[in-house]
Amino acid sequence: MCGIYGFIGDGKVEDLINGLKKLEYRGYDSAGIAFSRNDSLVVEKKTGKVDALRTSVDGKLEEKINAGIAHTRWATHGIPNDINAHPQMDCKKQIAVVHNGIIENFTALREKLISEGHEFISQTDTEVIAHLIEKYFKGDLLEAVRRATIDLEGTYAIGVIHADVKDEIIFARKKSPLVITANEHGSYCASDVTPLISVGRDVVFLEDGQIARLKKGTFEIFEISGKPVEKRFYHVDWDEKAAEKGGYKHFMIKEIHEEPRVISDALMGRVKDEKIFLKEMEDWKDYIKRLRKINIIACGTSYHAGLIFKYFFESLRPFDVEVEVSSEYRYRNVLIDDRVLNVAISQSGETADTLESVRLAKSLGGKVLAISNVMGSTLTREADKTLYINAGPEISVASTKAYIGQMTVLYLLALYIDAVMGGEHPERVKALSKLPELVDNFILTEADAIKAVADKYVGYSNFMYIGRNLNYPSVLEGALKLKEISYTNAVGYQAGELKHGPIALLDEKFPVMAVAVDDDLKDKMLSNILETKARNAHVVAVVSASDQKVSNLVNDVIRVPDVENYLYPFFVGISFQLFAYNVANNRNLNIDMPRNLAKSVTVE
Ligand code: M6R
Repeated sequence: MCGIYGFIGDGKVEDLINGLKKLEYRGYDSAGIAFSRNDSLVVEKKTGKVDALRTSVDGKLEEKINAGIAHTRWATHGIPNDINAHPQMDCKKQIAVVHNGIIENFTALREKLISEGHEFISQTDTEVIAHLIEKYFKGDLLEAVRRATIDLEGTYAIGVIHADVKDEIIFARKKSPLVITANEHGSYCASDVTPLISVGRDVVFLEDGQIARLKKGTFEIFEISGKPVEKRFYHVDWDEKAAEKGGYKHFMIKEIHEEPRVISDALMGRVKDEKIFLKEMEDWKDYIKRLRKINIIACGTSYHAGLIFKYFFESLRPFDVEVEVSSEYRYRNVLIDDRVLNVAISQSGETADTLESVRLAKSLGGKVLAISNVMGSTLTREADKTLYINAGPEISVASTKAYIGQMTVLYLLALYIDAVMGGEHPERVKALSKLPELVDNFILTEADAIKAVADKYVGYSNFMYIGRNLNYPSVLEGALKLKEISYTNAVGYQAGELKHGPIALLDEKFPVMAVAVDDDLKDKMLSNILETKARNAHVVAVVSASDQKVSNLVNDVIRVPDVENYLYPFFVGISFQLFAYNVANNRNLNIDMPRNLAKSVTVE
């Protein structure tokens, strides 16, 4: 959600545009840049995509600059238009500011600044920051920004450039992420590591309340009090190519094809001799033995992965596992003590509601284990421990490979906790280690067949996904995927709930996606499918390869391999990802950047 990029050093205008291109996946509706030229600032802003901005600055792309800041805006205060796009400026047009987050006291600040003679032109909360810095600027930009941030309530990541201060740019953070790196050509800051991989692998994540002063090739970090902070570097080993499409039409389909590799990377070093080794968890063994409950906190797709953990863990032993969406959890009166493990799942590690839930759990004395994909993200720094999924950058807004990576790590975690509690399931560990090959083979052999089914159903506007037990979360996720990228109404239900209301929706125009694999509840699913057929609904069933019983009764099938019950969610999940992708692709939609959505939801 919103993206910031900036640098000081040797560069050109196009570098700012290229930085923004790499942040596009975060979701936005306008874009802008500011850079210094002689004694003034040049600001260019455009509603719409970064390519529109690139076109509007076409003649300037090769212009050499020594500093600039850039922004993709996801509108919160004021509609997406050229005026509300960032950068926002002060009265004298000497200060430009880009901002992610929400300034909660902006109305009061704005009124005060207006009474002091400042003139506002946008509807944004961000513009108050530019005027505040103007108010406090007495020649020292760092000090002016530091002083301005003291007045701000809410959340922010800001980047600031001043026409008269040619050798530095300033960044500050409170609850919205910023990452910094430097090399001999310059210093660079961005909302996440994606645009930084090409210039530096050793990065520093700004902490809440910190301010950074970037000069060419070097940077310093200060607390809000002005006290210098020692830098803590993280090494990022993401492959630069992973953030490129590599011949695929969309990142989403590329990322689906990466899933076998994602599973094997998530398993790497963690499975040996039919046992699970999670070195990160070793010193928690006593704590695990005492656990009475596991709370899972997450949003969206990560929440669905959490639900699968619940069913999987319960298949190992009876245990109290509660899964809650973070935006609800954070406002609940939860009972937490030192016998409750809180597991926060977030691909990005920056989801605002999940972070607040983590803070709540910690404030009540709970321990937090993070499951994340992004090293050094806020979640991983605030949690007591982190298990990384190691999926590499996920660019498509719709999460696919991260979901599969989360499931893999959550299966490992479940088996690990169960083993510490005294359980033994060597056959499951063994089955897990064979998963990458099975998934690889499945995608290779079935992707076209799933595409053919999607082609047939592309004209429908409503879908109902039904499943049970371990495959209930899979149908929620399948419906979410279809909604997100194809803008089609899709609902997911526990199949047993149909007759309690949802079945009223069904007719020949409302197809049903039913998961009826060869598990313990297949016969129950079969009855549910017959109920939907009796209402004239067309049924696409996800069945096991050897199935005949269901296949003969439904309109279309998606076949997944015959595997142990608990492994089906991987194959069902991938089937629904491919189905949604092909429906959206058929409709020629902007699959990687669906309307209204952001990759990293950093506001509440
Ligand atoms: O980064 P997170 O895993 O915390 O993100 C949570 C959700 O915003 C995310 O899964 C969202 O639902 C995706 N767009 C799903 O495809």
